[in-house]
Amino acid sequence: MRERTLILVKPEAVQRGLAGRILARLEARGLKLIALKFLSVPLPMAQRHYAVHEGKPFYDGLITSITSSPVVAVVFEGRDAVAVVRATVGATDPVAAAPGTIRGDWALEIGRNLVHASDSRETGESEVALWFQPEELVPWERDTDRWISENQ
Ligand code: RTP
Ligand code: MG
Repeated sequence: MRERTLILVKPEAVQRGLAGRILARLEARGLKLIALKFLSVPLPMAQRHYAVHEGKPFYDGLITSITSSPVVAVVFEGRDAVAVVRATVGATDPVAAAPGTIRGDWALEIGRNLVHASDSRETGESEVALWFQPEELVPWERDTDRWISENQ
């Protein structure tokens, strides 16, 4: 099913100069870019984004980390985009992430796992709405779509 997913290239990935290569892997997979911005995350935004983790032992570290330095926020669209992105990103703990995944190739620790990716269709929709205004989502015709998808 065609869906949208939010990806955050986290501060550690931007600081390490991996942002372009991370986005290139998702782009090359065939996902369609819908929106992109570079920003320092305001504290209330971080708290809303990670509200589901409030009260967990790693929550404070998560908030500190995501607000410590800028991120790249991106929306990709495609068939089963949520599952496709999460498979490309790899397991939450890079120790368990398969080689060939973003985390499995470039990360070592769960608290420095480079990327956030929406975990369901519903979360994808709500996270896209949290991070982007409707007018920031760019409608466009991609001429290569018929070479990527059998059914348009
Ligand atoms: P994400 O939301 O970042 O795409 O990652 P995820 O779904 O694979 O993992 P999730 O359970 O949603 O956790 C969100 C982020 O919290 C940090 N975390 N630390 N120390 C820990 O046990 C622990 N567990 C999670 C990670 O940075 C994870 O990406
Ligand atoms: Mg998650």
